[in-house]
Amino acid sequence: MKDILPKEETYWKTCYRTAEEIATAYEYGMIQTPVVEEASLFVRSIGRGTDVVEKEMYVFEDRDGTKVALRPESTASVARAYIAHGMHSLTQPVKVWYYGPMFRHDRPQAGRYRQFHQFGCEALGERAPVIDAELIVVAYHFLKDLGIQTQVHINSIGKPEERERYIVELSGYLRSKRSYLPEEIKQRLHKNPLRVLDSKLEEMKPIIEEAPQIIDWLGEESKKYFMGVLEYLDEMEIPYTLTPTLVRGLDYYTDTVFEFFEDGGEDGSQSALGGGGRYDLLVEQLGGRPTPAAGFAIGLDRVISCLRRKAEQQQGEGVVPQEKVGKIFFAQLGDQARRRALKLIETLRKDKIFVHHMLGKSSLKAQLEMANKLMVTHTVILGQKEVQDGTIIVRDMESGIQEIIDQKKLTNRLEKILRPAS
Ligand code: HAM
Repeated sequence: MKDILPKEETYWKTCYRTAEEIATAYEYGMIQTPVVEEASLFVRSIGRGTDVVEKEMYVFEDRDGTKVALRPESTASVARAYIAHGMHSLTQPVKVWYYGPMFRHDRPQAGRYRQFHQFGCEALGERAPVIDAELIVVAYHFLKDLGIQTQVHINSIGKPEERERYIVELSGYLRSKRSYLPEEIKQRLHKNPLRVLDSKLEEMKPIIEEAPQIIDWLGEESKKYFMGVLEYLDEMEIPYTLTPTLVRGLDYYTDTVFEFFEDGGEDGSQSALGGGGRYDLLVEQLGGRPTPAAGFAIGLDRVISCLRRKAEQQQGEGVVPQEKVGKIFFAQLGDQARRRALKLIETLRKDKIFVHHMLGKSSLKAQLEMANKLMVTHTVILGQKEVQDGTIIVRDMESGIQEIIDQKKLTNRLEKILRPAS
């Protein structure tokens, strides 16, 4: 878990604004579900045999003895909220977006945190290739708007019956290679053969390449549906790679699954920036009516390290624009001036004028040095004399010219400096 410091503020704000803008444009409404939920919600939806539930969830008993968990993701919570608030009676699909912290006791390594942040969108109540495509479009363009070009890795894992038949075939194939399999893979084969396809072990590469592919085990409807999604992606010119080994680590998926990888990504290329897919059975599994649905979530911590890396490569010319730096510094001299200064700064703030200041400093020299460092165009100076006669000095930092104005006219004067056209 890590602290997010002011030096990263611009990145977080830019991500949030970009997420809000694109989600709103595609008519997703904001949803905020609790950070703590009953643990059983995640066990039932993400699946008992998954890494997230088995190894990574923060589970504890609250004071009533209820087993609760810090949410490891938000899809299950959204499905729960859909049922709890009778959202099936709204116009379908119900489209929601969220943004916030998730918790997984992951093994510490690059790009993996125990508290991380996701931006996600979910569309519940409709099954149509265009819905899957729209979600991919939103995620892809969110990343693109931030300056990250990605490849979408995509696959279809079909319906449970199709997957069952495929798993029988895959297990048979893997067992035939048993003598070549590393110990950890043998265990995975026993618990969740599909996840063997996820293995990044070098010695597994040739075995996985030769493995039967799930796409060949899909029925006509599933295949047609998947083709439908791909056609939209072609139409939208979204670059994708068909990835037969992509199965995702959460149990609720059916049909389309996808992940986003940075194009030509360096250290980030191993880990996905985001992922998602269709989960047509989840709402029903949680006690709701049959409700097809799909969604995605993007890992913002990974997105931000990618943006920071890009900014460093471009030597400070970040992809994320620097927040507009204030142009004005407010300097004060003496106790009375300091007291008045705080009042004036608050008045200016109400007038939407933000000024740099260092009220803890008493030396004018130190304050002017700071003003120079911040490259402000003007400094306003309030001394003992000015407090007494209700005036204030406005100094042009370039020319050094100073004017003395009435304190009451300060807002007006600064407005003219900051917004000369108005
Ligand atoms: P997920 O693939 O588990 O999917 O997570 C989505 C993204 O969250 C990952 O691609 C990654 O960028 C980020 N992420 C996951 N774990 C960590 C971690 N420990 N540290 C940093 N970032 C991490 C889901 O969560 C699904 N709920 C997505 C979804 C929505 N499917 C349908 N709707």
